[in-house]
Amino acid sequence: MEIRFVCLPGDGIGPEVIAEAERVLERVADRFGHLVRADRRPFAGTAWDRCGEAFPAATREACLAAPAILLGAVGDPRHDLLPPETRPERALLELRRALGAWANLRPVRVRRVLPHSPFRPEAIAGTDVLIVRELTGGLYYGVPRGVSGEGADRVGVNTLRYEAREIERIARVAFEAAGRRRRRLLSVDKANVLESSALWREVVSGLASEYPEVELDHMYVDRAAMELIRNPRAFDVIVTGNLFGDILSDEAAVLAGSLGLLPSASLGDRGGLYEPVHGSAPDIVGAGVANPLAAISSAAMMLEHSFGLAREAAAVQAAVDRCLDGDVLPADLGGRAGTREITDVVLDALG
Ligand code: NAD
Ligand code: IPM
Ligand code: MN
Repeated sequence: MEIRFVCLPGDGIGPEVIAEAERVLERVADRFGHLVRADRRPFAGTAWDRCGEAFPAATREACLAAPAILLGAVGDPRHDLLPPETRPERALLELRRALGAWANLRPVRVRRVLPHSPFRPEAIAGTDVLIVRELTGGLYYGVPRGVSGEGADRVGVNTLRYEAREIERIARVAFEAAGRRRRRLLSVDKANVLESSALWREVVSGLASEYPEVELDHMYVDRAAMELIRNPRAFDVIVTGNLFGDILSDEAAVLAGSLGLLPSASLGDRGGLYEPVHGSAPDIVGAGVANPLAAISSAAMMLEHSFGLAREAAAVQAAVDRCLDGDVLPADLGGRAGTREITDVVLDALG
């Protein structure tokens, strides 16, 4: 089969880790008799520098027609003072919205508790959580938004808005995922303070009778942030809104060992979007030490969700796990191996 996707290396360490994910895709395609065809396009800060805009029309068209998109990272400190609507980060929000990629799956597994972990092994070993983050609504997209006024009268506004239908569709994805896993779903909100969260809780609760095999609970986000590190094994699937999901997933990355391990898939109305959870990591760009495993696992999620290649995806993830079991580890996991070296270990494990 042809594994055809749009490749958006993006900014910072994005191109560094995407190059490694592509090496792994080539290898797995070779092994299983497929063909990889990546259509590379400028996006985000890199596109800004090259084309004067973060989301060029040609990139948009290619993305909307693609069965899948593999993205590195967006964001560059040089663009931090641009008006919000032209920043690289906004291009990513536009891409997610244009794709209708409203269901963001962020799996967090503790494969091994390494000495650099701030956690005691017995407290977190075996943790396996799936964060289902609503991705095209909530505070990220609500209007009105913006800054207006002068001097001390300046006002910054964002709007937290959720429609019942947006809540229902993401909740169904989470209920179904829980049904295939350990059948526990936790919905995270701030229903004690926010009306949008009260609606969220009502809609999620209303679906529970359709999924009798799944045990549903609710938790306020402040407590969930605490429980996630106090007793992470109690979690199976978490469903939550856009901002809470963003924050909780970076927190959960510390359980796994590093942000450099967390992949994601964003699914919905068109082709899937696959990207590591981490950003462009300006502090290590060009040093050759970026951990490529999140990008490689994101490519595995692409094989599974966009191409139905479950065996190939499992082979890649097994190779990543083998790497994590060994002594050749990247700097963010307390090791000394560089980006390419880590991929070499994964390639060896793939055979
Ligand atoms: P970040 O995720 O880029 O980095 C946080 C920390 O984790 C840094 O110390 C970084 O070196 C480390 N890190 C991240 N990925 C790593 C990897 N693969 N290997 C080793 N270490 C890794 O978050 P930030 O510093 O808050 O943001 C930097 C830029 O990235 C900003 O412009 C931000 O907007 C953007 N960002 C983009 C995405 C995305 O593209 N999805 C996500 C988060 C942040
Ligand atoms: C993420 C990132 C993005 C988000 C930013 C860069 C827009 O932090 O994917 O987690 O907040 O969704
Ligand atoms: Mn984030």
